[in-house]
Amino acid sequence: MKNYTADDKYIKALDPNKHELAIYTDDLHVSYGSSEAIHGVSLAFERFKITALIGASGSGKSTYLRSLNRMNDNIDGTKVTGKIMYRGLDINGPGINVYEMRKHIGMVFQRPNPFSKSIYDNITFAPKRNGLKDKNKLDELVETTLKQAALWNQVKDDLHQSALALSGGQQQRLCIARAIAMKPDILLLDEPASALDPISTSTVEDTLLALKDDYTIIIVTHNMQQAARISDYTAFFHLGNALEFDETSNVFTNPKIQATEDYVSGRFG
Ligand SMILES: Nc1ncnc2c1ncn2[C@@H]1O[C@H](COP(=O)(O)OP(=O)(O)OP(=O)(O)O)[C@@H](O)[C@H]1O
Ligand SMILES: [Mg+2]
Repeated sequence: MKNYTADDKYIKALDPNKHELAIYTDDLHVSYGSSEAIHGVSLAFERFKITALIGASGSGKSTYLRSLNRMNDNIDGTKVTGKIMYRGLDINGPGINVYEMRKHIGMVFQRPNPFSKSIYDNITFAPKRNGLKDKNKLDELVETTLKQAALWNQVKDDLHQSALALSGGQQQRLCIARAIAMKPDILLLDEPASALDPISTSTVEDTLLALKDDYTIIIVTHNMQQAARISDYTAFFHLGNALEFDETSNVFTNPKIQATEDYVSGRFG
């Protein structure tokens, strides 16, 4: 196995001697049938930071993000090769218990997708299935995760109402609460605010900034202002490659390649 060293320029930009890495990919390729959508992406993500994945529609952001917790496994005909290194383990390798791995690497999708259950049950469903039975502990989990997701004050008196009765922004924050109820290390979010109004978007952004103390966050966004507001690092995707990766302020103010500059300055996308 190729070790990731400080001299390794192949994995973009982060020196593992200076930055604690939560997860990285090494030469990741993803194909749908005979068509390759990701052409060997090597990126590293620092622990307790927010990294934004930006790039035009179809550039492969969702495909790449989904592979990080093997959501592409569920799509027929998909092939994912290359390494996804998490805590010294290649989680793209054989013999990985995907269900267990997803307890460490959680995901929030573009469209809020709460279960058709109560607010309370949405949050406790997976922890219960995972063996947490104590009523007090479950109550406490519901309260802490809803507080972390900035939703507690709005729903604390309605915990047994259907989650489907919540607004879109509230549903999305519930999905974030549900994801963090399993206490993952890493939270993957695919355009979590794209279906939300500006106020809900801003609440979700505040939520993510507050979660950064405990979680490593990787977020796909089309919204340049959002990337600039919340992320520490930005990776620019173009035609299935991660062309540029750097601290967000550099990507936006001093991009190294023309394609990034064209994209961030709005010339295409
Ligand atoms: N389930 C799928 N089956 C076949 N091809 C797919 C599938 N999902 C994505 N693709 C193709 O893979 C490429 C990358 O798509 P992907 O959805 O990852 O892009 P994206 O950057 O997330 O775009 P968007 O910003 O529009 O969400 C595109 O050419 C797309 O058509
Ligand atoms: Mg997408």
